[in-house]
Amino acid sequence: MACNIKSHTILKKAPYSDVKRKVDDLLKIMTLKEKIGQMNQYNGFWDVTGPVPSKGSEERKYEDIKAGLVGAMLSVRGAKEVRAVQRIAVEDTRLGIPLIIGFDVIHGYKTISPIPLAEAASWDLEAIKRSAQVAAAEAAAVGINWTFGPMVDISRDPRWGRVMEGAGEDPYLGCEIARARVEGFQGDDLSQTDTIAACAKHFAAYGFSESGKEYNTVDVGTVTLHNMILPPFKAAVEAGVKTFMNAFNDLNGVPATGHEFLLRDVLKGQWGFEGFVVSDWASIKEMVVWGHAENDRDAARLAATAGTDMDMESYAFVAELERLVLDGVVDEALIDDAVRRILTVKYELGLFDDPYRYCDEIREKAVVNCKAHHDAVLDMAKKSIVLLKNEDSILPLKKEGRKVALIGGLAADKNSVLGSWRIASDDHTGVSVLEGMKRYTGNTLVYEKGADVTLGEPRFIEELKINTTDKSGFKAAVATAKTADVVVMVLGEHGFQSGEARSRVDLGLPGVQQELLEAVYSVNTNIVLVLTNGRPLTIPWAAKHIPAIVETWQLGSQAGHAVAEVLYGDYNPSGKLPMTFPKDVGQIPIYYNHKRTGRPVNVAKNVFWSHYSDVDTLPLYPFGYGLSYTSFHYENLWMNKDEYTLGEPIHISIDVTNTGKVKGKEVVQLYIHDVFSSLIRPVKELKGFQLIAFESQETKTVRFTLEQDDLGFYDAEGNYSVELGDFKVYIGGDSTTNLYATFTLV
Ligand code: BGC
Repeated sequence: MACNIKSHTILKKAPYSDVKRKVDDLLKIMTLKEKIGQMNQYNGFWDVTGPVPSKGSEERKYEDIKAGLVGAMLSVRGAKEVRAVQRIAVEDTRLGIPLIIGFDVIHGYKTISPIPLAEAASWDLEAIKRSAQVAAAEAAAVGINWTFGPMVDISRDPRWGRVMEGAGEDPYLGCEIARARVEGFQGDDLSQTDTIAACAKHFAAYGFSESGKEYNTVDVGTVTLHNMILPPFKAAVEAGVKTFMNAFNDLNGVPATGHEFLLRDVLKGQWGFEGFVVSDWASIKEMVVWGHAENDRDAARLAATAGTDMDMESYAFVAELERLVLDGVVDEALIDDAVRRILTVKYELGLFDDPYRYCDEIREKAVVNCKAHHDAVLDMAKKSIVLLKNEDSILPLKKEGRKVALIGGLAADKNSVLGSWRIASDDHTGVSVLEGMKRYTGNTLVYEKGADVTLGEPRFIEELKINTTDKSGFKAAVATAKTADVVVMVLGEHGFQSGEARSRVDLGLPGVQQELLEAVYSVNTNIVLVLTNGRPLTIPWAAKHIPAIVETWQLGSQAGHAVAEVLYGDYNPSGKLPMTFPKDVGQIPIYYNHKRTGRPVNVAKNVFWSHYSDVDTLPLYPFGYGLSYTSFHYENLWMNKDEYTLGEPIHISIDVTNTGKVKGKEVVQLYIHDVFSSLIRPVKELKGFQLIAFESQETKTVRFTLEQDDLGFYDAEGNYSVELGDFKVYIGGDSTTNLYATFTLV
């Protein structure tokens, strides 16, 4: 079987009304216990390399599936393995309802794509969608039919390790990417054997964890909630996402898992979401730890009443819900509603037609790790790279006759490049930068480690904390650098230093890497710094001294090839930062779309204005920023009118010219600013962007249309309105652009 990303098997899809009828019929013959069983999800429970579930210590889970008390599993994988567990549900239970099988397919299954934050830096929605298609096709070939992605949490705090899993700080970009990912995972027909159900998570506000600390409380105002946090979730609903996941945090003192306003009023009410909501891992039970629920029974009551439909690994629904219904505490209609939602997704996935449709070992062999998928993730990886600095055009590197010193433990690392959420990947299978650069044989390449980042692999928390202090490799690295024409240093975070439970307070280069950088710089200043990391880092010294800096994140299976192609100029980088890089951790939260203040500049020439005494207020690199091997000039910002009435589309154009010698792509960005408003508005808000290819010296007129809904905002009660008055429209290559026109809404 050829592996073709777009190939869909042709299957007849039941019309929706048919699904609805089937679900209702099934519901009628289900006992209360069986219904509650559908609301229960367990983690995989046997050695994933063994096909047959063993009873052993996990006997309870095994027995529960047999008794029809389990509706979903997570982290079971492999066509044969999933078939084995599915068989219990289908053949040994009274009703034979198939399980839905979830898995964290966050940036690829086996073929690993760049971490989501890196993909966001591409601003290339088609490529992002394709990357999700690749992940879905592989997952759907190994028995999985539901991914716990995309994470659509907006975050302004790079201390929070999970920023690697999102699309950055901006709600507009976040909405576009949420749609692309949902469409990529789900396709236009969920029952195809290369599409899977998506899950928008974590609902809501998890990205605003106080002080960037994982699993912490959240304290946001409702204007921020409605304007910054909720829009990507709404966009996911509009794109047809089938499931939602609760967040681990509270919002205004109520855990998100038991948050009736979020789940019933907003999600299922105002937005009309028809899919189901799964808790996060044990988040129902955790309501007891919070002191919000008295015990598991109370927690189950709160979660079910609030609108959580499925319990992931709390054992609370399965243990408590039946009694709660029989005692008249929870209305059975709520149970029916939850089960209806879950069964509908199962029907749509085609599981009732063939519960084993995702368990085809032949397809598994053909699809997983196939060449087409590796080509796609390589393409995505190149598009995700951001050129941060390139003084004196040190990049691209010359291909012939140079001595190139490659330095840094991460340069030869085949595991770190795979990033953090890559549970199914085979360890150490990523292409390292060293391997990628070796392909360019015209130069003499000499590799010296210099220093590792951490002691061992920081997969587990103990190792994670220990950055190495070993400098024994410095001498050799410095000696090699001294005689080199150019030094490429690959520095940053290990792939396991970002991700869930990887919050950090020091965002400089971990361990002795900063010292290594300065030691090498003291003998050779001709350095290209290749950053690899899962979050914005604070690197002010490097930004000042090092002539070239390339942000390569963690780029997945093909990382090294992508990096080498960019360094050698076979690919002209076009990525733009989806998140602000601070100069100092003390500036966090720092983000481009902050509100106006009363004292933004030092008018009186004294100290009483909004600033710090020790570090300036500007970021190191702003949102939307990224260079190219060519340069772009913007002029002739044009609007069709000065005044518009409410509802009239606003047409804007700009001439953009590639003023350099090579072809390249530019992300042309449009921002607005509402000059006077009843609520303080951000200084700029992204409202449009286009990724455009230019030949050398080519000029293109780039056109945007703003609609009325692009101009409004939500108030503290969540009401959306557009206010008349003056607006500015900015266009440029990053969020600091000063090129603007004004118009009035009358
Ligand atoms: C994470 C979720 C994830 C779940 C299942 C939780 O710890 O917060 O994002 O989907 O585990 O693995």
